[in-house]
Amino acid sequence: MVLIKLDATDSTNDYLRELRSAENLPDGTVVWAQWQRKGRGQMGRNWTSEKGKNLTFSILYKFKNFPIGEQFLLNMVTSLAVIAVLERHDVPDLRIKWPNDILSGKRKICGILVETVVKGTQLKAAIIGIGLNVNQEHFEEGLRATSVKIATGTTIDLESLLQEIETELEATKKKYLSVSRGELWDSYKALLYSKGELMKFQTPAGDFFTAVIEGVDAAGRLLLRHTPEEVKAYSLNEIKMQY
Ligand code: BTN
Repeated sequence: MVLIKLDATDSTNDYLRELRSAENLPDGTVVWAQWQRKGRGQMGRNWTSEKGKNLTFSILYKFKNFPIGEQFLLNMVTSLAVIAVLERHDVPDLRIKWPNDILSGKRKICGILVETVVKGTQLKAAIIGIGLNVNQEHFEEGLRATSVKIATGTTIDLESLLQEIETELEATKKKYLSVSRGELWDSYKALLYSKGELMKFQTPAGDFFTAVIEGVDAAGRLLLRHTPEEVKAYSLNEIKMQY
């Protein structure tokens, strides 16, 4: 693994994207920063993390034949790999809150930001950004966040945890992207937070509605059952789950 360690940068996803366009980086290149000045989350949100306490890093994957319609596989693979590693560290009650927030109990322990480089109908590359709360002990209450340290009481060496995630991610990617996609969907759905439950959602206009979480479709949209006859698919920018 090529590992680029930085003391600080705006965002490891941005750093890796810029470096990729300037240089021919090997598949699997990782950029890890102790601190991000402008860490980014999904939907243009910020990602904040105490300096040197957590993992904030991005991995570059290059592809030869990866149709853009299959992009959600990357979100699933990453979520499952992070969960497998956290399980080994005894983090309790792990779930995936659609599309790829990792929760321990009802608190977020890891956020994932998958960004892609597209050419025609193909993904040329993906930049997988992972923000994992590891040794931070205090979070603003409004964030509803937790960390490995809070959940297990154990302080963990960041670099060895990063190595573990990178190895797991590589193995999970190889396993699922080649043959067993059905198994990948089964594993993802089995870990989906609140699957089969009636949940409350907010629309961008500020309205609320309730619906039962049915699953996720191939494009990565959340499937919500409104009535016994009606199931609708929603993208991330169309709904916000209240949990
Ligand atoms: C989210 O939960 O909204 C996704 C958060 C992703 C945060 C990581 S930290 C490393 C990488 N660099 C960024 O700017 N964001 C991702």
